[in-house]
Amino acid sequence: MSNTPKRYTITAALPYTNGPIHIGHLSGVYVPADIYSRFLRMQGHDVAFVCGSDEHGVPITIKAKKEGVTPQDIVDKYDEIIKDSFNNFGISFDNYSRTSAEIHHKTASAFFKKLYDDGKFIEETTEQLYDAEAKQFLADRFVTGTCPKCGNEEAYGDQCESCGTSLNATDLINPKSAITGATPTLKETKHWFLPLDQYESWLKEWILEGHKSDWKPNVYGQVKSWIDDGLRARAVTRDLDWGIPVPVEGGEGKVLYVWFDAPIGYISSTKEWAAREGKDWEPYWKDQDTKMVHFIGKDNIVFHCIIFPVMLKAHGDYILPENVPANEFLNLEGKKLSTSKNWAVWLHEYLEDFPGQQDVLRYALTANAPETKDNDFTWKDFQARNNNELVAIFGNFINRVVVLTNKYYNGEVPTPAEYSKVDEETIAALKAYPAVIASSIEKYRFREAQAELMNLARLGNKYLADEEPWKLVKTDEERTKTIMYVALQIASALATLSEPFLPFTSNKLKEILKFSAEERNLNEGELSQWNKITTREALLPSGHIIGKAELLFAKIEDEKIEVQLQKLEASKVANAKASESVEPQKDTATFEDFTKMDLRVGTILEASKMPKTKKLMVLKVETGLDKRTIVSGIAEHFKAEELIGKKVTVLANLAPRKLRGVESEGMILLTENAEGKLVFVNPDEDGVINGATIN
Ligand code: MF3
Ligand code: ZN
Repeated sequence: MSNTPKRYTITAALPYTNGPIHIGHLSGVYVPADIYSRFLRMQGHDVAFVCGSDEHGVPITIKAKKEGVTPQDIVDKYDEIIKDSFNNFGISFDNYSRTSAEIHHKTASAFFKKLYDDGKFIEETTEQLYDAEAKQFLADRFVTGTCPKCGNEEAYGDQCESCGTSLNATDLINPKSAITGATPTLKETKHWFLPLDQYESWLKEWILEGHKSDWKPNVYGQVKSWIDDGLRARAVTRDLDWGIPVPVEGGEGKVLYVWFDAPIGYISSTKEWAAREGKDWEPYWKDQDTKMVHFIGKDNIVFHCIIFPVMLKAHGDYILPENVPANEFLNLEGKKLSTSKNWAVWLHEYLEDFPGQQDVLRYALTANAPETKDNDFTWKDFQARNNNELVAIFGNFINRVVVLTNKYYNGEVPTPAEYSKVDEETIAALKAYPAVIASSIEKYRFREAQAELMNLARLGNKYLADEEPWKLVKTDEERTKTIMYVALQIASALATLSEPFLPFTSNKLKEILKFSAEERNLNEGELSQWNKITTREALLPSGHIIGKAELLFAKIEDEKIEVQLQKLEASKVANAKASESVEPQKDTATFEDFTKMDLRVGTILEASKMPKTKKLMVLKVETGLDKRTIVSGIAEHFKAEELIGKKVTVLANLAPRKLRGVESEGMILLTENAEGKLVFVNPDEDGVINGATIN
């Protein structure tokens, strides 16, 4: 634990204001950022924890178009909803701003102007994608196409979500307008580019050499691969009418690229906060002693580790982040979270279904945080975390301590007699926890930190179960007092150490234990509540009166979980319906046309994946006529083992053709089920034999 107070600027990614937020946002960014900020404040550090709504950018204009309202209507609506969710889940921002705020427009505009005046941009007229029908240039999310790097056919004009590569719209193969579906043409337009390539050697030194050991491997690895691939100049302006106007000559009708303005939102938010609090914002951004940490999800790494730092460096007045502890993604019940498919747990809906149980979600999300790899949220796990950990361990321990103290001593903390060896060991173990938890938090390992908190509750539970004060109270009053005294010290430590993770519970527990206001606000280095656990023994001194027991956590029954699972099932069904867009009927075929096709029943005898391909499977099929080789594009949908013995429909007289050097003699008929998985057109009725014709 560091005891000299430091200044920290903690940022959490500004959420796009085009929808409410869900558990993925909370788990990847806002809960970890909140744990970290709360912890730092408890250590007496000077913290500015800032965020705000990201209100520009293409997704917002697309959403507005779809709903027939203005972009401003969209951001006004979701800014409110998002802000409420953060408040309700105890995300302790010092300030939550929005990028439509005047202070932000001014700050971002001035930032651009300074780089422009200092000659940091390249001004260039190039050909960009243009949708003639919509009379609009296409960039970012206005255009989709095939990723030149990984072949994903749904890459966006700014990024491929499949492989994470950041793209320019003109890089896409087969681009398509997201507005009209048209194939774009090229049209000349002038833009300002940030020459990232000129900063390559500086980035190498600062990150690749300077942060090799302290940045998370997932972050460091991504940054390294981008730098190794070579950086290119990137346009920081766009031909759009929603955003911050380009404040220089020739910039009419153009706005700043959303990823240029949004991170500057961290600065504007800090300014807004400082003005309100009567502070000076500048040290939080310009003093070399300030530690800046960006909390983000992995899709934001390039922007926070390369582009924004280059902007700050080019500007010259600003400090750089000390760390960017990006998380991987959270899945829900095994599937990628998706706003458009309504595959999510929305925070505002969670609160309706589980009122007052914010800490349970915070706890379950941190326990499963995608810190080193993508991770899965399941409702069963959520229930188990609550019932088996929060209720059975933490809640149970606190309840026993508080109930017994009231029963035996009318709520007064007893005076201990002599400590036994077990007492000594328990107290020593207790005193080790603050440093252990702190050290995990300082390394951004929040799962580990929270698991240690639960271990402390386990220690308390075991101590009571082993010492059995409820039996001893009849025979040995002095011993009982000692046990209860020790247990009360553990309860008190839990009240303090749980604050970053379970702020509502911590608050409630401090009320039950009757922490004084002074005690609660003791946040000064050595003397902080946190460190006092280590240095002084009597957290709750003898004679102190605690309050009455109140339940901290309640068991969650199966029925409540079932309701949630059914909600998801409903989304699945709705999605399947939506994707059932039936293709129009093809041109008429004559009877002759049809009889030309030789359709037969066959059985798959052998199957193996074609090396170096993703989709192709080489099959040996018994057609009744012969045993032949057929190459089929099904490798992403089936494992070789599960194909063997399958009855299938074969188009036997399709002209043979070579696929990757293997001659394919026919085709296997397939269709797609509601979830988009390929399934065989299956003639698996009793008694159907290989070679039977289909007509
Ligand atoms: N709105 C972006 C997203 O949700 C994050 C912006 S972070 C900022 O992915 F740095 F630009 F603010
Ligand atoms: Zn890709």
